[in-house]
Amino acid sequence: MAEADAAVVRNEETEEEEQVVNPWEVSAGKGGIDYDKLVDQFGCQRLDDALVARVARLTSRPPHRFLRRGLFFAHRDLNEILDLYEKGERFYLYTGRGPSSEALHLGHLIPFMFTKYLQDAFKVPLVIQLTDDEKFLWKNLTVEESKRLARENAKDIIACGFDVERTFIFSDFNYVGGAFYENMVKVARCVTYNKVVGIFGFTPEDHIGKVSFPPVQAVPSFPSSFPHLFSGNDQLRCLIPCAIDQDPYFRMTRDVAPRIGYQKPSLIESRFFPALQGENTKMSASDPNSAIYVTDSAKEIKTKVNKYAFSGGRDSVELHRKLGANLDVDVPVKYLNFFLEDDNELEHIKKEYKEGRMLTGEVKQRLITVLSELVARHQRARAKVTEEMVDAFMAVRPLPNMFG
Ligand code: TRP
Repeated sequence: MAEADAAVVRNEETEEEEQVVNPWEVSAGKGGIDYDKLVDQFGCQRLDDALVARVARLTSRPPHRFLRRGLFFAHRDLNEILDLYEKGERFYLYTGRGPSSEALHLGHLIPFMFTKYLQDAFKVPLVIQLTDDEKFLWKNLTVEESKRLARENAKDIIACGFDVERTFIFSDFNYVGGAFYENMVKVARCVTYNKVVGIFGFTPEDHIGKVSFPPVQAVPSFPSSFPHLFSGNDQLRCLIPCAIDQDPYFRMTRDVAPRIGYQKPSLIESRFFPALQGENTKMSASDPNSAIYVTDSAKEIKTKVNKYAFSGGRDSVELHRKLGANLDVDVPVKYLNFFLEDDNELEHIKKEYKEGRMLTGEVKQRLITVLSELVARHQRARAKVTEEMVDAFMAVRPLPNMFG
């Protein structure tokens, strides 16, 4: 397995700890994920301040806090998309979700919150793939259950505020066929078995469903997979917001694209949202105490934050006043970094906490308020999503207001 492809990084100081980042596994040693190494190893580009400023200029609005704070931190050819946009050309957005659980946790919301901002800021169409087939293949789910979860998850996605006039949500089980399937086999013919083993780390024991899945996630990157949206627009560029664990799929996609006469998709990639227990892994849908769910009550949020959020505060108040908090490992501060909108307040909290004037309990209290408000808002929005709305987003139809 080629090192560059295997998504395994050795930590030089502690040989035995290695970080593993691929679409199905994210784990790191004690120090958390080394994102710098990941960027170098994957071969993506760093999203620097100049690029963030350029996004702000072109969209005439302040950059999203995820951009201001480097939470979306890497990209591939974002500058090319912006060059075209500056010349008056448009592009489309593509993101997705593997519906493996009933309730989304906060980490799942991040790409969708960010995609919503991109859709509003650039006024472009968006396709959202629900990979119910992927979760059937990887998790022990029935087809019916995967489809049901896809539809339930669609409601949470819609609750993030997407514009039905610019957004097409599809489930693979429903949509794969026609032009989409033609593109899948075109991609498949360009990727050898050795290549997928190199990129994804499949072993001879893996069933062939896994081996044959990657083209399904690849082809929404190509506008011709959506004739009802982009017919006659085969060279329209695509921008994919995602967490960096999805990068292997799109490395493969970008590799194949020019060989079948298509544009390579561009990417904008985020860090992981840490588990309550700390940075060495991402939130896991399978450990309820590692995550805050969008279905949690205010009381549950309070208990989880107080009980499980790893603190960088010191063992005694005395020591804390003297040494201050270790912000590098403090989960409440990391969460505020994602969700507290006010930059000044965030800086104030960090400074006071770091210098020992603020205690963990106070920081957690602020976090509990921020998260409870966010989750309550989400729950209100989701309660308003009707079955008819889901049908409307998922209907195979032209989008009336794509670039309006
Ligand atoms: N594989 C992703 C998951 O398990 C779902 C997905 C499909 C996706 N297409 C995507 C994610 C495009 C980001 C961008 O969640």
